[in-house]
This record gives sequence, C-alpha cells and structure tokens, in this order.
Amino acid sequence: MATATNRRIVLRRRPVGAPRPDDFELIESPAPQPADGQILCRTIYLSLDPYMRGRISGVKSYAKGVDPGELMVGGTVGEVVESKHPGFAKGDLVAGRDGWQAYGLSDGAGVRTLDPKQAPISTALSVLGMPGMTAYVGLLDFGKLKSGETVVVSAASGAVGSVVGQIAKIKGCRAVGIAGGQAKCDYVVKELGLDACVDYKAGDLTAALSKACPNGVDVYFDNVGGDVLKSVLQLVNPHARVPLCGLISQYNATEPPAGPNWGVLLVNRVMVKGFIISDHLDRMPDFLRDGTAWVREGKLKYREDVVVGLENAPAAFIGLLEGKNFGKLMVKVGEDPTR
Ligand SMILES: NC(=O)c1ccc[n+]([C@@H]2O[C@H](COP(=O)([O-])OP(=O)(O)OC[C@H]3O[C@@H](n4cnc5c(N)ncnc54)[C@H](OP(=O)(O)O)[C@@H]3O)[C@@H](O)[C@H]2O)c1
Repeated sequence: MATATNRRIVLRRRPVGAPRPDDFELIESPAPQPADGQILCRTIYLSLDPYMRGRISGVKSYAKGVDPGELMVGGTVGEVVESKHPGFAKGDLVAGRDGWQAYGLSDGAGVRTLDPKQAPISTALSVLGMPGMTAYVGLLDFGKLKSGETVVVSAASGAVGSVVGQIAKIKGCRAVGIAGGQAKCDYVVKELGLDACVDYKAGDLTAALSKACPNGVDVYFDNVGGDVLKSVLQLVNPHARVPLCGLISQYNATEPPAGPNWGVLLVNRVMVKGFIISDHLDRMPDFLRDGTAWVREGKLKYREDVVVGLENAPAAFIGLLEGKNFGKLMVKVGEDPTR
C-alpha cells in the first residue's frame, strides 16, 4: 500500500456563479497509512450532490464549508484496503465520507458496512443512501401524506425526487412530477410509474400542472425553489404541506432571489404554517382568561384610533390601507354610555 498514489481534488477558489473546472485542482500524493483505530479505504464510488455547491460558497450554513485548499467533501462507497480498527476487516465494502479522493483514512465513525447481496453497493449513495432517506423522511414525516392525496415533486427524475414520487405511489397517492425536458418526463411516468409529469421548461407550468392535478396539490415536495415553487404554490389545497428540501434553482445565484429567501428557512429548519383563526375558536376561553388578566395588570397595552361618525368610515377604511391609522381603527357610530 505504501506505494499507492492518492489523487485528491481540492477547492482552488470559491466559484462565483456557476462553478468552473479550474475552481478545482487535482493533487497527487502518496496514499496515507492508517494509525491505530483507523481504516484506509479505496474509493469505489463518490457521490456528487447539489449540497456541495453550498459547501464551497463561503456562506455560513448548517454544516462546515470547504475552504480553498481543502479536500472536497462527499459521500463515498469504498473497499477497506487496510484496517487497524477492530470493527472493520480488509476487503469490507463500506459507505463513508472520504470525499473527492482515491484513498481515504477514517476512524470508522459514521462508516457503514455494506452487504452486496442485499443491493448493489452503489445504492448506498442513491436510492438506499442519503437521497433515498431524504425522500422518505421528507415525504412521510413532513409531507404527512395520506392515501388519495395529490403529491407533486420537482426534480422528479433525480436522486431524491424519483424516490419521493415512487413512495407517494406506494402510499396510494396521485403522484405528479415536474422535470426538465421530455425524456425525463417520459422516464418519470413510464419507468417510475408516476401518474403524470410536467416539463417546466415547456411553457406555462401553472396551467399544465393544474391539468395534471385536477384536485389541487396536497403535498409539494420542493427540490428546486424559484419559479417552479411559485407556480406550484398557486395550486395548493387547504392544509397542504410543503416539505422544503432543496432550492437548486438558486444555488449558483450571485444575487439574493426576489421575494423572501426560502433558503434561510430551509437551512434553519424553520416551520412555516398557514392558519386561519376561525379554525381555532376552541382557544377562545383560554385567550379571554389570559388576555383580560394581562390588560388589567397593565401587561398588555393597546391603542385605539377612533374615527367619529359613520360617514367617515369609507375615508378611514381607505386610510387604513394606506397606513394612516395609528392603533386599532374603529368608527364611533353612536354614544358610548360607559365613557
Ligand atoms: N434537505 C436535505 O437534507 C437534502 C438532502 C438531499 C438533497 N437535497 C436537495 O434536494 C434537491 C435534489 O437533489 P438530488 O440529489 O436529488 O439531485 P438530482 O435531482 O439528482 O439532480 C439535480 C436536478 O435538479 C434539477 N435542476 C437543476 N437546476 C435547476 C433549476 N435551475 N431549476 C429547476 N430544477 C433544476 C435538474 O433536474 P431537471 O432537469 O428536472 O430540472 C437536475 O437534474 C436539491 O435541491 C438538493 O439540494 C436536500
């Protein structure tokens, strides 16, 4: 092993916009030697994933980024070529995170031994790996899908999206994909078995989607954000769920997107939930009990903007929409016997 050459790809500089080949650099060096408690793996498969764009951006996020000069991170499937770790033997096939290199050292933390009899080892990076797991958790735990509902998924032919659509079918839902181009859409319907797939590059996405989703959208599993998200949101049903998985349409952006930046919500795992207060009238007694006490105790202050005379209602209302009121706007239509 001492003579093997390691090839490693490091980040040369942070890309601006779409990454370019010369943002990366291939470096050769002797393969490392494992110390006690370590394994040396020969990389068989390296996973390339959209999240890597975020890692090299220099923007603070949920995981440590890659600085210029550092090895590119990534999930790998490899073969243990030398082990000084009691949990692994030479020849073991493992899934780990050795990054963009031909040989990787690890202490075994987070390394999973694979059984090629169960499934091809490459699937540890795809359908039975992180993307598959993302689809499973995102759809079942956050999408909370129910049989008979309509599930829409973007990047539907991709690693995560393809699993989302198929789990939706397994669970008895109408599954509609969104993908770029006819070939991908055909694959999604004919091979994966989704009910329909809409090509977002072909024109009016909202119209095409609305045709494909005659009962509206109950779950939108968003992998892309941007204009696709905007279109699907026009079709959501009451109490729809939107697992916000990825925003790939903006990963190369050099300017913040128009409108709110959903990326901040995603990386901070923020929950956004629409609600209508009339659905929650059962909370009225609790509110009145607490609210009345807080007002009496001076803990809850309020201000009222009282316009006198019903005839002034239209102008006051128009002013409300222009921000002219200061406090709760109301019209005093008749005498108040308590004041
Ligand atoms: N939250 C998490 O923990 C988590 C975990 C894994 C992945 N993700 C996210 O899930 C999404 C899918 O990841 P994946 O690994 O399954 O990748 P993937 O779908 O296999 O590949 C990426 C696909 O995204 C689509 N795409 C690229 N640029 C786009 C754009 N500007 N607008 C719309 N679509 C675009 C392309 O498909 P089309 O040709 O169909 O457009 C492309 O093939 C990514 O956003 C990723 O960051 C999140």
